[in-house]
Amino acid sequence: AACLLGTAQAQTFPDKPITMLVPFAAGGPTDVVARMIAIPMGKALGQTVLVENAAGAGGTIAATKTARSAPNGYTIFLHHMGMSTAPALYKKLTFDPLKDFDYIGQVVDVPMTLLARKDLPANTLPELLSYIKANREKVTLANAGLGAVSHLCGLLFMSAIDTDLNTIPYKGTGPAMNDLLGGQVDLLCDQTTQTVPMIKEGRVKVFGVTTLKRLGALPNVPTLDEQGLKGFEVKVWHGMYAPKGTPPEVLKQLNAALRTALADPAVVKRLNELSSDVPPQDKITPEGLRTHLEAEINKWGPVIRKAGIYAD
Ligand code: MLT
Repeated sequence: AACLLGTAQAQTFPDKPITMLVPFAAGGPTDVVARMIAIPMGKALGQTVLVENAAGAGGTIAATKTARSAPNGYTIFLHHMGMSTAPALYKKLTFDPLKDFDYIGQVVDVPMTLLARKDLPANTLPELLSYIKANREKVTLANAGLGAVSHLCGLLFMSAIDTDLNTIPYKGTGPAMNDLLGGQVDLLCDQTTQTVPMIKEGRVKVFGVTTLKRLGALPNVPTLDEQGLKGFEVKVWHGMYAPKGTPPEVLKQLNAALRTALADPAVVKRLNELSSDVPPQDKITPEGLRTHLEAEINKWGPVIRKAGIYAD
């Protein structure tokens, strides 16, 4: 009966709009990726894919909402590697990344950049480090909360320069960027999906990229590694999920739509302009995402527990 039901559903799926939950505020990097792929995914499925921001608690609110949604294909979820750090970061996690979801595929890999407000009086990384040294008590570093990659990148930076800064949490780096542009906060480590246009327009100061090689979109911006922060490397992977129990035929359609979206020339061009990469084909699969997620949980768990960072 389950099999028959699955087939019947697949034949009519989708007969209404699909909601893509995004775990951070509108306008930020995850939202940018979601909106970029929602349109071609919708075209491939013959239905609208609506993006809904369920921001807060480092992405765990939207993950919980997804896990508790009806497993019928009408709720899908885009999240980044925060899905793999959450089990160690949150003592009372209300979902299990390995038990409460079905997997659609990996989505994009996105580098990060270290930024400062435009009027911060430093132009190079050494000048920034001197400024931080002289003003340690008052320098502020924005992030999108525990489980956000901006938080993770900020932790790596503070550890690399052996200095604790005042961190300010937001519901996404969209609003954090607004405050950086307005000069209300000093520093932000954020993904190129949001930062490349800001950097090119000269609206923020940039001190380095978080990859070991320079980025095509920002050839004049040095890596943090080449400037002496040896081994400083963060690249943010993303995955697309559905609630556990989504019919296999429906998952297959969603995966096919995701693949179509990621091969869309306009999407490929835009991702290229933002120095972000489509993962290899074998990763844009349920197995590819599940395997990577599990490996990442096993990688980050011990590191986070050793550092003793978590929410009660
Ligand atoms: C966002 O979309 O706001 C960011 O991905 C949040 C983060 O830094 O993880």
